[in-house]
Amino acid sequence: MTQDELKQAVAREAVRHVVPGEILGVGTGSTVDYFIDELARAGVPIAGAVSSSERSAARLGRHGVALLDLNDVDSFPVYVDGADEIDGALAMIKGGGGALTREKIVAAVARTFVCIADSTKRVKVLGRFPLPVEVIPMARAHVARELAKLGGTPKRREGFVTDNGNEILDVHGLSILDPAALESAINDIVGVVANGIFARRGADVLLLGTSDGVRTVVR
Ligand code: 5RP
Repeated sequence: MTQDELKQAVAREAVRHVVPGEILGVGTGSTVDYFIDELARAGVPIAGAVSSSERSAARLGRHGVALLDLNDVDSFPVYVDGADEIDGALAMIKGGGGALTREKIVAAVARTFVCIADSTKRVKVLGRFPLPVEVIPMARAHVARELAKLGGTPKRREGFVTDNGNEILDVHGLSILDPAALESAINDIVGVVANGIFARRGADVLLLGTSDGVRTVVR
């Protein structure tokens, strides 16, 4: 199976985790694009969606899904999103698509985080994928110096502006042995909006696409 076929398979499986009649949280990325299309194809009725990006909002809108403002929502049962890497404890690196801050916010309000990923995303130790860090533009150089002190090599994502009007530093060369501790340490750097380690609020369920089918892992 190709990587795209694996993404499609987990997207199809994720539709089974959607609670009919409830609000749904929707992440961002190519796997989520497949999920949005599969959701529309399945015709599962939902009360509306809270989106983590303009990209997903546009796709949901094209399928006629009502978009809700997170400020008008107390809680909802399920958030579905992809990952760039995911480890055995279901901690993740996210933000390859640059939507990490809104993803983290929407995930914080969801009761269950369902991660959809193909088997190439599964790792023992997070960090081979460069860690995205969203920064306030005027703080970029300061944050880069602080990230270097933590052992990484930050590179500005050229020509990219987040949905929040900020910039992304992609941090290379990290071996993330304690994801929750590094997540907190990076959050403490002044000028950081959010970082792509999702450990303090990791996934609750992983739907992993493998050549033998979709494997469900529950934390
Ligand atoms: C976007 C993300 C995505 O979930 C992550 O990059 C995975 O993307 P894809 O499904 O395209 O592999 O965090 O900010």
